[in-house]
Amino acid sequence: MHRLSPTFARLERWIDSQVRRFAQELQFELGGQRLAMTDCWVNVMPRGVSHGLHLHPLSVVSGTYYVSVPQGSPGLKFEDPRLDRYMGAPPRSEPAAVRNRIWVTLPAASGGLLLFESWLRHEVPANPVRAQRISISFNYGWGSTKG
Ligand SMILES: [Fe+2]
Repeated sequence: MHRLSPTFARLERWIDSQVRRFAQELQFELGGQRLAMTDCWVNVMPRGVSHGLHLHPLSVVSGTYYVSVPQGSPGLKFEDPRLDRYMGAPPRSEPAAVRNRIWVTLPAASGGLLLFESWLRHEVPANPVRAQRISISFNYGWGSTKG
């Protein structure tokens, strides 16, 4: 989308600046190369639609810009990447502190931007409300060039 539409290209420029800040915060050593948007797509989720657990292979940073998030529609649910190493660990108290949870859901809000490292598995639970949940998701690659 960012290569076809001037509106999406403008959004890309803004997200680029946020991804640069994110990369600095994570202390990425990029070796003189840059992170660049490789994919960008629109998600329209009517009532009952979910997006199952997944990650974004071959990307470095992924994220979502929330266009329209009706009240009551879900956030983005992340899985602790250590989950397969917990083995005999006991369950956590309910409600557990965020730092101790295996699953953490970050709320979505219209106009908000959420960035995360692409190896972090995540899902969007089913939208329980009638109004559509609309977002724009994207991936950034390392050493990519604009096409
Ligand atoms: Fe995703």
